[in-house]
Amino acid sequence: MEKIVIKGGTPLNGTVQVSGAKNSALPLLFATLLADGESKICNVPALRDINTAVKLLRELGAEVASQDGRYRINTKKIQSIQAPYDLVKTMRASVLVLGPLLARFGQARVSLPGGCAIGARPINLHLKGLEALGARIHIDHGYIEATADKLRGAKISFDLPTVGGTENLLMAAALAEGETVLENAAREPEIVQLADALNSMGARIEGAGTAIIHIQGVSRLNPLECQVIPDRIEAGTFMIAAAITGGHVLVRGAVREDQQALISKLIEAGADIQPEADGLRVIGPKNVTSVDIRTSVFPGFPTDMQAQFMALMTVAGGTSRISETVFENRFMHVCELQRMGADIQIDGHSAIIRGTDQMTGAPVMATDLRASASLILAGLASENTTEVARIYHLDRGYEKIEEKLAALGADIWREQE
Ligand code: EPZ
Repeated sequence: MEKIVIKGGTPLNGTVQVSGAKNSALPLLFATLLADGESKICNVPALRDINTAVKLLRELGAEVASQDGRYRINTKKIQSIQAPYDLVKTMRASVLVLGPLLARFGQARVSLPGGCAIGARPINLHLKGLEALGARIHIDHGYIEATADKLRGAKISFDLPTVGGTENLLMAAALAEGETVLENAAREPEIVQLADALNSMGARIEGAGTAIIHIQGVSRLNPLECQVIPDRIEAGTFMIAAAITGGHVLVRGAVREDQQALISKLIEAGADIQPEADGLRVIGPKNVTSVDIRTSVFPGFPTDMQAQFMALMTVAGGTSRISETVFENRFMHVCELQRMGADIQIDGHSAIIRGTDQMTGAPVMATDLRASASLILAGLASENTTEVARIYHLDRGYEKIEEKLAALGADIWREQE
C-alpha cells in the first residue's frame, strides 16, 4: 500500500487546475444506460471511483473507451441488469444504475450497498420513489430485485433532499409515462448538470436546482454528449490549502456560485477571496480566526467540506464549533488530527476545536475520502513530517493531489508504505 509524506510549513503559491467533479461524472456515466448508442463525456477525472463505475458499465455489457478524460460509452449491447456486490460495496454510487436499468429494461438486480465509514446511508428513499413510479421491489439475499412493466409518472415527496435519490428518480422518470414531480429534491450543482445532460438527450425536465422538479416522461432518449463540471469539493480543498498555509493560490475552475457557503466562512476565518475570470484567488491570513460551521444540504455548508474545514480550525486562534447534520458518523478524522496535536472534543454531532500553534507532524491513517484530505491539509500546516497511510481512500476522489500540491510549493510526495 502507498502513503503520502508531507514536510509542512511552506506557504503555497501559484495556480492549480481543478479536475472534473467526481459526484457529477458518476451519475452522468450511468445516465448513458438510458440511451441505445454511443455517448461521449469529457473532463472525467482520473479516480478510483470512476474506474469502479467503468467496471460496472462493462459488467452490464457496455463498451467503454477513454483517453485523457474523454470517455466513449456504447450501450447498444447491454446484456446484464445486475450490479454485483463486489462492485457496489466498493462504491455505493453504483446504486445509481437502478433508475436507468429499470427505465430502459424494466428490471434491475442491484446489491444493497450496506453501510460505510461515515454512516448507515440507507437507500430507502430511492426505493420508495421507484415504487411510486410503479416498480415492484423486494430484497432477496442482499440484492434489490426491481421490476416494472412500464414506469408511470407520480408525485414524490422526499423525506429529506437526498442527492442520490434525486438522481435515481430523475433518470427513472425521464422515460416514465406521464409527469413526475419531485418535491424536496436535492439542489446541488451536480443535480443541475445531470438534468441538463438528460435534457440534451431529449428528456423534458424543469426546475433542477430548486426543491421542486417536474419531469415529463418521453418514449426514448438519444446518447449523451457533455463535459463534466469542475469539482467544487476539490476546489474547496485547495482553497483551504491556501488558507491553512498562509499562501496565495489561484484555484482555476472554482465556481463562485457553487461555493458561496464555503467562501463566506473562509472570509470570516480571515482569508481574502477574489473572483477571477477563470477561478477564485485565495490569499491565506497570517492568523486564522476561529469560525463555527454547521453542515447542511446545498446551498448550505457542504458536509463534504467539514473535515477539511476542521483541519483549518485546528490552527485558528480561538475556539470553533463544527456541527455535522447530514451524516451520523463523519468525525473519523478527529482522532487522527488529535495525534497531530489538535485540541478537539466531540460533543454528540458537534466537535469543539481549540486552535493551537503546536500542530506537529505524525504518522496518521486515512479512514474515508474527505478525512484523508483533512489529514493532508493538517500536514501542510504542521512542523516536521506527517505520513498519511491508506491513501487509497484519497485516490477515490482526488486526482494526483500530491502532484498538484507539490506544484504549489508543498514538500509532499507519495511512496510505498
Ligand atoms: C452524495 O451521497 C455524495 N456522493 C456524497 O459525497 C455527499 O456527501 C452526499 O451526497 C451529501 O451531499 C455522490 O454524489 C456520489 P444523500 P448520497 O442521499 O447521494 C440519508 C464524497 O465525499 N439518506 O444526499 O449517498 C443518508 O443516510 C461523498 O464525495 C436516507 O436516509 O447522499 C444521509 O444521512 C461522501 N435515505 C443523508 O440522507 C436515502 O434513501 C444524505 O444522503 C438516502 C439518503
